[in-house]
Amino acid sequence: NGRRPLIAANWKMYKTLEETRAFFKEFIPKIKDIFDRDIIIAPPFTSLNEAANLVKEVPNCHIAAQNMHFEEQGAFTGEISPLMLKAIGVSFVIIGHSERRHIFGESDDLIGKKVKSAITHGICPILCVGETLEQREQGHTNEVISTQIDGGLSLVSLEEMESVTIAYEPVWAIGTGKTATPELAQEVHSFIRKLIAQKFNSPIAENLRLLYGGSVKPENVAGLMNQPDIDGALVGGASLEVNSFEKIVRFES
Ligand code: G3H
Repeated sequence: NGRRPLIAANWKMYKTLEETRAFFKEFIPKIKDIFDRDIIIAPPFTSLNEAANLVKEVPNCHIAAQNMHFEEQGAFTGEISPLMLKAIGVSFVIIGHSERRHIFGESDDLIGKKVKSAITHGICPILCVGETLEQREQGHTNEVISTQIDGGLSLVSLEEMESVTIAYEPVWAIGTGKTATPELAQEVHSFIRKLIAQKFNSPIAENLRLLYGGSVKPENVAGLMNQPDIDGALVGGASLEVNSFEKIVRFES
């Protein structure tokens, strides 16, 4: 397939501005010569401006926000808008991460609005989906994924799908050290690609990049990336340290 690998770091609520600077100072020289894959880093809001400036000269490295509001501005205390992100050079945004869904109660309806708004403002959304352990054990995985995909993409047109990335993150594999086996992840990725082909069309499904997330580490990234429908990784814990993230970025399949 012609899909370019994409390795994304989700720092979650880690790293101060100073720690962000230190990371990039060490990281940028290490990845400057990598041109056959895309790298995305999603620091917390307080580090976004600095991070976007630091990677300006690094064409294969992009900065993502971890969340955003769907409105451009307004009386929404504590929120950040797509206009504000765009203005500082943020080009991607993670939407509907399982922590947003489960800790902060984000619904598929809200997530759908955020995805649409990101695209409208020229920011590429990374829509996250994934089942809990209980849902998997009850045999509801496909149904849950399909509802999350329907909700997340409900306002997205055929043409707009070009800017969308989807990340499959089984909730039971996030931060637990329990990675889904490459085969199990592949099964869901293939299911998602089929869903997209049905909802939109086959070329769109073929071009869509699907990331896997959940305890991705230097030791398991290649096995995952070898699967035909896994095009990248969304990395939490192992992205915080330069050496381990560099190893993940440099996976060889
Ligand atoms: O967005 C990243 C995921 O939640 C994975 O986190 O690599 O720490 O399991 P993790």
